[in-house]
Amino acid sequence: MNDTPKIPGSQRRVPKPEGLNPPVGSPAAGDPPAPNHSETNPVGPRLNVDDWERAARSRLSDMAYGYYVSGSDDEITLRENRSAFSRMFLRYRVLRDVSRRDLGTTVLGHELPFPLMVAPSAFHQLATPEGEVATAGAASEHGTIMILSTLSNRAVEDVVAASQHPVWFQLYIYKDREITGALVDRVVAAGCKAIVLTVDAPKLGRRERDMRTGFHLPEGIRMENFLPDDYRSLPQEQGESGLASYAADLLDPSIQWSDLEWLVQRAPVPVLVKGIVHPDDAVLALKHGAKGIVVSNHGGRQLDTSIPSIQALSEVRRAVSGHSCQDGSLPVVLMDGGVRRGTDILKAVALGADAVLVGRPILWGLAVEGREGASKVLSLLHQEFDLAMALAGCRCLDEVTEDLLAFEKPAHKV
Ligand code: FNR
Ligand code: LAC
Repeated sequence: MNDTPKIPGSQRRVPKPEGLNPPVGSPAAGDPPAPNHSETNPVGPRLNVDDWERAARSRLSDMAYGYYVSGSDDEITLRENRSAFSRMFLRYRVLRDVSRRDLGTTVLGHELPFPLMVAPSAFHQLATPEGEVATAGAASEHGTIMILSTLSNRAVEDVVAASQHPVWFQLYIYKDREITGALVDRVVAAGCKAIVLTVDAPKLGRRERDMRTGFHLPEGIRMENFLPDDYRSLPQEQGESGLASYAADLLDPSIQWSDLEWLVQRAPVPVLVKGIVHPDDAVLALKHGAKGIVVSNHGGRQLDTSIPSIQALSEVRRAVSGHSCQDGSLPVVLMDGGVRRGTDILKAVALGADAVLVGRPILWGLAVEGREGASKVLSLLHQEFDLAMALAGCRCLDEVTEDLLAFEKPAHKV
């Protein structure tokens, strides 16, 4: 942004210990329905993330779109991740000269131009032939960090080479610890600057769309991060998700806190834990050596009816604010799930997130225009966040405080 010069020294603050909790609520009966952007704007300019999703849907096979879009079971958490944001309101400030804004922040020593990073997601070659190399290029263009999935179609070395900014690696722990350990060594040697251990998937959530399509990887698309050949492809069976079978065969459902310690010992880079929603687990993660937490319910793809991420964030943030990491540093707190608007980013920052991650929006961009599409989606979110900051009266992230938030009263108590 031309009109957002850097104001030095804008590190994130630790939020106040007390604060409001987003209530559990549902829209009152008789409320007018929210506009469904995905049903409007069939061919016009892509003005928002939902427009990108609509365009992506028409370009992807039913199988690929179904895999990307799906949540587990009844997809209640998938929907709630978004609607929880819409139950939060902004008590904006005025007359604060917002002509100059600094959206920057620092995560594990890396400066981000605005508090957003790319979430790990599997199989980017379903969206574009370049796969994760395209994603890394887009993230790099925006000076942000990409987290590469264990289940990427492109090899980690190629992905790291495509970015001038840090690439982090998301790890699944396999039953075979030698293979897992070798993978950790490989990604560190490739130059990944942090490892994000995903802990909310001891088993894969039940995604009925994938069962209906018999989800598998089309001919010629494989997972390139593994040496053993039988780890590189998904089985194909009618009425079954090939990914669910792969996960059941190879991923380890017995993972526990001692495995986090093993990883922290093994990896000479910071380890973060992704998939935390309970404040006690956040504190345990720090005790076992994590440098940070990703508050996440896996985009509503694992345990359905899990708490929406933005609601979990405030509890987790408060729980970890009195704690430091084993080395005395302050823990990084990230969140993902349902971030589609600049105002969503503002709300997450107000609740104490150092940055948010976006998953599906990047996939929509990739599916429509490859690297350039992902880059345009990042620009869109950057611009929306900048406008949200100005309209909320915030000139830097330190000014995005919890008092800006008001929550809708629950329509009924649960
Ligand atoms: C994911 N996610 C995910 N997470 C992870 O740790 N490893 C992975 O391989 C994947 N794969 C994956 C594939 C697809 C298609 C999706 C949509 C998601 C979860 C992801 O990192 C993130 O938590 C959510 O996507 C965030 O929610 P939004 O932004 O998609 O609403
Ligand atoms: C998913 C896995 C790969 O959500 O994390 O599909």
